[in-house]
Amino acid sequence: MKPLKSSDLHTRSEHYQSKPKLMFFGDPHGDLAPVIAAVKRFRPEAIVLLGDIQARRPLHDELRPILDLTEIWFVHGNHDTDSDADYDNLWGSELVTRNLHGRIVEIAGYKVAGLGGIFRSKIWDPRRPFEEAAFASADALRRSMRREERWRDGIARRHRSTIFPDEYLQLLRSPPADILVTHEAPAVHPHGWKAIDELAETLGVQLVVHGHHHQSIDYVGDGLMTAAAPFRAFGVDMGSHLTWPRDETGLGSPPQDLLDLAAQVFGAEAQTWLDKPHQLLDGQTPAAFAAGGGADKVRAMLSAIQHGGVA
Ligand SMILES: [Fe+2]
Repeated sequence: MKPLKSSDLHTRSEHYQSKPKLMFFGDPHGDLAPVIAAVKRFRPEAIVLLGDIQARRPLHDELRPILDLTEIWFVHGNHDTDSDADYDNLWGSELVTRNLHGRIVEIAGYKVAGLGGIFRSKIWDPRRPFEEAAFASADALRRSMRREERWRDGIARRHRSTIFPDEYLQLLRSPPADILVTHEAPAVHPHGWKAIDELAETLGVQLVVHGHHHQSIDYVGDGLMTAAAPFRAFGVDMGSHLTWPRDETGLGSPPQDLLDLAAQVFGAEAQTWLDKPHQLLDGQTPAAFAAGGGADKVRAMLSAIQHGGVA
């Protein structure tokens, strides 16, 4: 048996991340069960909900089972202002301070910029210059309204999820960021917006993730954008999620005890063995087989090898 070196452990922990840093969730539309289940399973450092949350109770009550398991962030969507309940269960929640709209927050080691809501041409069509917007800010709209026209003495509830030029501009003039999360899609989507691309490029982000369209799309992977594009972009479907950094192998992580056992048995060669297709595992690699629910069989093989057998 070869001795285990600490450098092996370091390499292994980098190779198979024990838990993801960030997970992005597509529009829940009231169903937060998939979010809770995924957080319990993958234990990400932080999550971001991509809007249209429509929690049926205050969001902190809906997400109580995972409040202590991960850091929760979100941007709002257009449907989060559909009814008083939709609005109150989000903006009246204890998690309201976790709205990323219009700002950049460092989350799990990434600078994450957020732009919630949608563009509505009655306020501002972002294909037109800022100066041509009907209203430059929510405050300008409010001032134009008679008192009896207001909702809770402010702008109409619906426009609480409209993107105003001043909010967009403030974000555009912010320091650089790593990731941009939006409800609206970038221009590559048939219903996307160049203004999202311009924001992403000005902020210098490497990644744009959006909701709203109920489609899981890897724009580069699906051939809709080239790898030379200034940023990667993903759409996330309702009930679905995106993990970041992305596990490009498509594999999950084998359990840590199994990795430790492999290191005991193979020492510096553990990684090589874990990543080599094995005939006893239907041609899958031990790492993939274990991550896919077959950890017991891989453990048994390692035990057999450890005790002098061959596998
Ligand atoms: Fe939406």
